[in-house]
Amino acid sequence: MRVGVLTGGGDCPGLNAVIRAIVRKGVQEYGYDFTGFRDGWRGPLEGRTVPLDIPAVRGILPRGGTILGSSRTNPLQAEDGVRRVRENLAGQDIDALIAIGGEDTLGVAATLYEEHGLPCVGVPKTIDNDLSGTDFTFGFDTAVNIATEAIDRLHTTAESHMRVLVCEVMGRHAGWIALHSGLAGGANVILIPEHRFDLDEVCGWITSRFEAAYAPIVVVAEGAMPREGEMVLKDESHDSFGHVRLSGVGEWLAKQIERRTGKEARTTVLGHVQRGGTPSAFDRWLATRFGLHAIDCVHEGDFGKMVALQGTRIVRIPISEATARLKTVDPELYAEAGVFFG
Ligand code: F6P
Repeated sequence: MRVGVLTGGGDCPGLNAVIRAIVRKGVQEYGYDFTGFRDGWRGPLEGRTVPLDIPAVRGILPRGGTILGSSRTNPLQAEDGVRRVRENLAGQDIDALIAIGGEDTLGVAATLYEEHGLPCVGVPKTIDNDLSGTDFTFGFDTAVNIATEAIDRLHTTAESHMRVLVCEVMGRHAGWIALHSGLAGGANVILIPEHRFDLDEVCGWITSRFEAAYAPIVVVAEGAMPREGEMVLKDESHDSFGHVRLSGVGEWLAKQIERRTGKEARTTVLGHVQRGGTPSAFDRWLATRFGLHAIDCVHEGDFGKMVALQGTRIVRIPISEATARLKTVDPELYAEAGVFFG
């Protein structure tokens, strides 16, 4: 039995921990052979492979990134993509394929399984924590820890200068990182994509914080937007790879706050720092368990499934169920945080 493994989409701390667990259990308990596919779906599409065995996964548990490389290549959008993937898998004698990724990578795996009968198993990853069917994705905890540490640091410099400090975190469609790090870091305003914000209200919170003689911290998710009609905030453009680039909400917000409150404001954009480096203990634990259960799916021939965390149990759900809709922040959960605003 030969199992292919790929990591697709934006990288995320914990990817190497999954790969290690898959290979360790696959080799030691089931006697499988492995082939690593390079750079996400580009690997099977173009027949790019790397050796994947016990020596290859030695020492990678605490390492960020992915030893397999990653890309956002979608074979369903490539000419003759499905045929090329099928031929390359057959050429490598692949009996099963484990795809580790977010919504896009897993969406491809779901289609290849459901419409083309390819034996795929999915493992969910994203720092954004916005995949349905799983309570958490690995990478999220690490990102929240990094953002929380940054917010702690911003508090002390904000207090020294009595300035507003805006911290922009990742989260294009879901505000999980903003909500969790904002609560953990004691932010005075948390803005998320799921809830359009009112600039007057935000400035009111900021002013009341100054009245209490404290400097406010605003945590804003990159996808947060003001109420309809307040201003055109986002300037969507595409980079040379065709990816959508949004102009920074954090910078825009700081300017608006200065204009409206007369207080000095600065912005810190955390960006890819949230995605790099070593995974937290929780993410290593979760990624390792996902890997162990994913290879069990292969062993039992249970294809078209994604492993997921529900409570403390690892369960299996159809991949298509996880990718059907994004898991966004519940309005009640967001409302809970409101007591700390201002
Ligand atoms: O999906 C994770 C994520 O980190 C988003 O929060 C962010 O918008 C995006 O990836 C940025 O990805 P990249 O810079 O790799 O295009």
